[in-house]
This record gives sequence, C-alpha cells and structure tokens, in this order.
Amino acid sequence: GRVAVLFGGTSAEREISLISGQAVLDALRAAGVNAEAFDPAERPIAEVTAYDRAFIVLHGRGGEDGTMQGALDLLGVPYTGSGVLASALGMDKARTKQLWLGCGLPTPAYRRLSADSDWAAVVAELGLPVMVKPVREGSSIGMRKVEVLEDLQPAFTFAAQFDDEIIAERWITGREYTIVILGDRALPVIRLQPHQSHGFYDFEAKYHANDTQYLCPCGLAEADEARLQALALEAFAAVGARGWGRIDAMQDQDGNFWLLEVNTVPGMTDHSLVPMAARAAGLDFSTLALAILSQTLD
Ligand code: DAL
Ligand code: MG
Repeated sequence: GRVAVLFGGTSAEREISLISGQAVLDALRAAGVNAEAFDPAERPIAEVTAYDRAFIVLHGRGGEDGTMQGALDLLGVPYTGSGVLASALGMDKARTKQLWLGCGLPTPAYRRLSADSDWAAVVAELGLPVMVKPVREGSSIGMRKVEVLEDLQPAFTFAAQFDDEIIAERWITGREYTIVILGDRALPVIRLQPHQSHGFYDFEAKYHANDTQYLCPCGLAEADEARLQALALEAFAAVGARGWGRIDAMQDQDGNFWLLEVNTVPGMTDHSLVPMAARAAGLDFSTLALAILSQTLD
C-alpha cells in the first residue's frame, strides 16, 4: 500500500522535522516501500485518506501533541507511534512530570512560573541552577539554564515567547543519558556529553555543533544500565506511549536516576539519538524505519 510520511508541519521544530522526515522517506523508499512526502503545512490533512498508512515524523505541536493523531483516528488512517493521549501528555513536560510523580517515578522537583512569581521563593525551593522550560516545546527551544537569581525572570520572559506555560526544574548535577524505546524493548543506553561551552544539551549542541560526545556503550555498569532501561520502559508505559520513543534522563552524583521527559516522535536526523541507539542494537536506518512502520499493521 501507499505510505504517507508526514513531516514538516508548522511547529518551531519544522526545520528539524524536514530533515528527520526526509531521512525516513529516503530509507523507506530504499527498502522498496511506496512512500511519499506529506507536509500538513502545505495541504489539507484530509488528503491523507489517499494513503493506507501514515508514518509520523512531525516534531512539536500540531504533529507530536495528539492533534494529528486525533485527526488520523477520525480519518481512519493507521499511524506510527503513540496515540492521542500519550502524545498530548508527552508534549506537556509539566503534566508528564505530575503523572510520573503520581506513579512514584523519579523526576526532578519543579515549579510553575508566571509573570508575578516570587523569584526568590522559587530559588529557595529549587536551589540553583534551575532549568527554565516552556512546557510544550522540543529540541531545547526556549530553554535556559539559570545560575543566578537575577537571571530567572529574564529566562521566564524568554521562555514565555514559546509557550504560555513555563516551568523551572531543579538542576541535576551529573550525567545525561537517553533511552530509546522500540516496540516493547529499550535499546542500548546512550550517554551524552555536551562540550562545556554549551552548558547543557541545547539546540546548538543537538543539531549544529560537532563537539558533543555520544557514548554507546554508555559506560554504566551492566546492572545500572538494565535498571535505567527498566525505569525508562516504566516511564514510557506510564504515559501510555507505544511503538517508539525516547526518554531523556540524568544520573546524579549519588547514582540516582532522574527522568526528564519523554519524546513520542524523537528526531530521526543523522545527528539523532534514535538511529544511533538502533545501530548499537544492530539495526541500520532502513531496518529501523521498517520496524516502526510495521507497527501500524499490528
Ligand atoms: N524534539 C526532538 C526532535 C527530539 O526529541 O529528538
Ligand atoms: Mg523533548
């Protein structure tokens, strides 16, 4: 049958989606799949009914947040990845964290910010540094690491350009890891080591710089890696996610793991972590794309 590869879209992550989607499209075609590009920014979504299945490679709002999934449900077109609820939850960092906390899963303490927040009280509660994040963004867009009280309000104002809900999250000092989930298993864990110049794994470090180190094997002891994979699978299941995705996490200096967020349509660019973890598991890009696509037949 015909496959629509949905990419582009209208979110702040459009440019990333264009690269992710083209990579998926090329890989599916190379594997003999009758796949075509479908950019919802350029045509009515109802035209997707000309296709038998949809491979969603849209990042951010309007594609990763449940709205597209709902449209495809109504139009009767099977699609890759998570459904409406998990997509909407996964897009929303604050509600994801609330849910994880409710399940007893570890995620750093956070506070919702508003224009009239008591900034000193936020710092008294969370300490410094904190990460300030738009609740519904991706690729670190709108995020800032805040090291001193005076920078908190400007970071809020900056983040508020991207969303109307903003959080400050306790900074975890330690190591950053990501866990890719494919079907019902967690792939080998990757450790990310952004160059000090970035301060954290920001947009620049994700897509432009070549100075981030990706370690896979990740350097954790086998039992710790297995523990982190199990935690990621639990966190993924808790939001009701399915098919494929990526959980970002930290390990603090005492060895505790902390869940940061779930991505239900993670990046699929050359620089991206999902293809990297798949390679470590012996799956090349085409095999990975076919594996994700085949889930629409389940
Ligand atoms: N939001 C970006 C695309 C990611 O999670 O990889
Ligand atoms: Mg994200």
